[in-house]
Amino acid sequence: MQFLDQLPMSFRLTPCSSKMLSFWLCFTVIVPVARTQTFPVPVLGVQTGINIATGERPARLNINDLYSRGGPQWDLYIQALAEFQEAPETDERSYFQISGIHGIPISSWNGAEQVNGGINGGYCPHNEQLFATWHRPYVALFEQVLVSHAQTIAARYRGRNGPRYLKAAQTLRQPYWDWAADPNLPVAVTRPQLNITTPYGLLTVRNPLYSYRWQRKENGTGFENTSLSSYAETVRCPLLNGADDDFDIANSNLEAPSLGLASQTYDVFARASTFEWMASMSSQGPSFEMPHNTIHNFAGCENGTLADVGWSAFDPIFMLHHSNVDRLIAMWQVVYYNESTMSSTSPTNGAFGSTRGDATPDSPLKPFFLDTNGTFHTSRTAAQTKTFGYTYPEINDWSRTRDELRDFVINRVNVLYGGGTANLPKQTANRFIKGRGPVSPSVAYTVEVQVDRSEVPLPCSIDVRLEDHTLATVSLLGMPLSGMAYSSVPLRDSLRNLSLKNMPEDILIPYLQKNLRVEVRKRDGSILPQSQVPSLKLGLQGQDFHPPVSNYALPRYGTARKYPVSKRVQQRDTPGSWM
Ligand SMILES: *[C@@H]1O[C@H](CO)[C@@H](O)[C@H](O)[C@H]1NC(C)=O
Ligand SMILES: *[C@@H]1O[C@H](CO)[C@@H](O)[C@H](O)[C@H]1NC(C)=O
Ligand SMILES: *[C@@H]1O[C@H](CO)[C@@H](O)[C@H](O)[C@H]1NC(C)=O
Ligand SMILES: *[C@@H]1O[C@H](CO)[C@@H](O)[C@H](O)[C@H]1NC(C)=O
Ligand SMILES: *[C@@H]1O[C@H](CO)[C@@H](O)[C@H](O)[C@H]1NC(C)=O
Ligand SMILES: *[C@@H]1O[C@H](CO)[C@@H](O)[C@H](O)[C@H]1NC(C)=O
Ligand SMILES: *[C@@H]1O[C@H](CO)[C@@H](O)[C@H](O)[C@H]1NC(C)=O
Repeated sequence: MQFLDQLPMSFRLTPCSSKMLSFWLCFTVIVPVARTQTFPVPVLGVQTGINIATGERPARLNINDLYSRGGPQWDLYIQALAEFQEAPETDERSYFQISGIHGIPISSWNGAEQVNGGINGGYCPHNEQLFATWHRPYVALFEQVLVSHAQTIAARYRGRNGPRYLKAAQTLRQPYWDWAADPNLPVAVTRPQLNITTPYGLLTVRNPLYSYRWQRKENGTGFENTSLSSYAETVRCPLLNGADDDFDIANSNLEAPSLGLASQTYDVFARASTFEWMASMSSQGPSFEMPHNTIHNFAGCENGTLADVGWSAFDPIFMLHHSNVDRLIAMWQVVYYNESTMSSTSPTNGAFGSTRGDATPDSPLKPFFLDTNGTFHTSRTAAQTKTFGYTYPEINDWSRTRDELRDFVINRVNVLYGGGTANLPKQTANRFIKGRGPVSPSVAYTVEVQVDRSEVPLPCSIDVRLEDHTLATVSLLGMPLSGMAYSSVPLRDSLRNLSLKNMPEDILIPYLQKNLRVEVRKRDGSILPQSQVPSLKLGLQGQDFHPPVSNYALPRYGTARKYPVSKRVQQRDTPGSWM
């Protein structure tokens, strides 16, 4: 036990499982409480590890790569996240306070007060364009605090490890979970404990990615009266008897083919040619917000933290998830560089710090300050990843022209989400027919679903069904409580599976028109009678599909042909048709 005496005072040793070998220690780390609060905390991202001359900056890494590689960055990431979570919940920079920006607790952060007419909820916008721009400074804020912990921890290593860990901390960034490439929960979030190299040697530590443990839950701020209130920590798929999370349930949820995470993601790159479409479900067409919602609802199972929008940011998966959403948006911005930033005025639902009305590219993204003199970030100031000192593995915008980078990112999109092939010389215009894209000549079919959110029990799913098959699932989060939600879901995988993809359009369409139906599924799995959802509309659309001419190109689509679909509920026709 001599070893314990060498630990600095700021370490709190906590008992681990009795099965542990005696020389393995479990510990959590406490940050000194005495921290002077300076208002406001500006969101600058991490500005270390950057080559000022070239603009080259460190990439946020795929969590699965960071985990499997191990080494200094992994060790630092885990310890930094643990220290972040252990910071006193009264500290403005604590994990509790920063996670609490999104939803509960219903209270102000960083001096950005509730406005007259602001909602009694969090600051986060959903089902509106600001969804895409607000979460960028949010992840950057989390990252800047995370990495500041990593840099402090790195300075504690001695000997040969000293410079190695300091260097690793400089280029550490918040990792991402690429659920479109692999829908399974990252292994790193499923292990209760990890073995890592700390400044004090190899130790077994509690895994801060497994859950966040509450220090306290304030009364009257939103933590009361839900099934989540009774847990001491964040939960993924809590079982009825309070047993451990069953990650297999989340994984089998996420693997359901009808969720189509890869094909939907691919579709946003291929078909969403404006910022408005790409950004959110508040406008028609495919958006990244839709698969984003699916992750919340299905990785969070029925009663998990992630599936409750008020609580979701406390699950350590949240930032891995949103780092990926941010990455997809950044990649889309490269592909559509002429359209790459928000440029129009659009409706906003309002949040804790803002009222319902119109949002412009210059609307403040509260509570994220740009500097120390009270100016907030806006969709314009937060438009570029380089502002916040990070990039992604796909985006090296310092050594390529815009068009070269665009080709490169399209190739990555084809490889990761479209079944395309990597690293072929651009000149070989190889046909792109092996993967997910239909074979030319062909038609791309999509279902278009729209619903007034105030008519459905949020959160919920809307399933598009064909006989016994679920062809597509549209996911809606718990907030906002009103407003139209739109989605456009490609049917290629599900039609291929049903051997319908080669059926001529004049036979397939009448068949689908007659037999497609929609089901609104509540969180507990029960189906809402459709008579209660008059706004729910289902449309079917066909477009001539021209496969990519190379792995460096996206497919092209012809003019949309729209077909009405009669709505069928439980084998009985009900009146009402599309749009
Ligand atoms: C940590 O390493 C020890 C010794 O090799 C091993 O017994 C234990 O299972 C490891 N724990 C984890 C969580 O990997
Ligand atoms: C919240 O209020 C309840 C009922 O008054 C009380 O039992 C509980 O201890 C309070 N919790 C906290 C964290 O203050
Ligand atoms: C929680 O439930 C109690 C009893 O039903 C009620 O008095 C209280 O206002 C509720 N709190 C919140 C925040 O809804
Ligand atoms: C989820 O919570 C509800 C209400 O508390 C409960 O009826 C249901 O059985 C829970 N589901 C699971 C899978 O535990
Ligand atoms: C962007 O606009 C320029 C000028 O109109 C045009 O030459 C270029 O092809 C456009 N690029 C893309 C990717 O649309
Ligand atoms: C605001 O703060 C920044 C640095 O935080 C400073 O460079 C700038 O001059 C300030 N602007 C005003 C108007 O005070
Ligand atoms: C294909 O259909 C079968 C039977 O309904 C189902 O089990 C399977 O998951 C489907 N696969 C895809 C890719 O849709």
